[in-house]
Amino acid sequence: MSDRKPLIVGNWKMNANHLEAIQMIQKLSYRLEPSDYDAVDVVVAPPFTSLRSVQVVIEQDRIPIALGAQDVYWVDEGAYTGEISAPMLAKLNVAHVIVGHSERRQHFGESDEMVKLKAKAALGHDLFPIVCVGETLEQREAGDAESVVRGQLRAGLTGLALGEGSLSVAYEPVWAIGTGRNAMPDDAGLMGGLVREELRSIFDSETAERVRVLYGGSVNPVNIKDFMAKKDIDGALVGGASLDPDKFAAIVRYRL
Ligand code: PGA
Repeated sequence: MSDRKPLIVGNWKMNANHLEAIQMIQKLSYRLEPSDYDAVDVVVAPPFTSLRSVQVVIEQDRIPIALGAQDVYWVDEGAYTGEISAPMLAKLNVAHVIVGHSERRQHFGESDEMVKLKAKAALGHDLFPIVCVGETLEQREAGDAESVVRGQLRAGLTGLALGEGSLSVAYEPVWAIGTGRNAMPDDAGLMGGLVREELRSIFDSETAERVRVLYGGSVNPVNIKDFMAKKDIDGALVGGASLDPDKFAAIVRYRL
């Protein structure tokens, strides 16, 4: 057993206006108990427009759920219409930032180079990047899944100074996201091991042991247990199921 505390992150994507977000965080908090937070680090990543509202609820009600953002720009301030910077997120007590989600790579042309700039900006403001990697179906069928993921990690992370901070890596096969077709837990476990091995070569063994590796892609209350049983999977990045407080709470409570 490693001493990495499980990390379960709800990625709300482009869902929930700020009023809906308030209801979702409240409902989620009613379904979780102190022992759940002792066992698992719980994070929700609402859209930017809902961050402040969720922050106010979790601080006022002292809910031990951490706040995540779904993206960040790498410049601190200036003429970048539409972008949001790391210091802006830090000011809202955002703790984690999802970087390089496959939807950003696919629809918004995010490259490994941009992923690295974003991760670096996050680390520079004491935010933990959750760096997403994963192969497409074509790449998997061509037998390239491992080389694609290794390449994304090397290009996205090499040269980052982690210092006291840390990051998480989410292995999310693109074909499993939002499709209801999750990866086989054994395959995900192997890819988790590969991610850790690559982290060892990019950074060092100590860092590789410390980084939490998440699985993402159609995680639900039933399959979560099988993923969490894998030694190199330390948590989950949950999309669709995180919008339903009952389902997300059941995922957080996978151990029961
Ligand atoms: P999903 O999304 O759980 O809806 O498949 C996962 C993700 O995109 O992080």
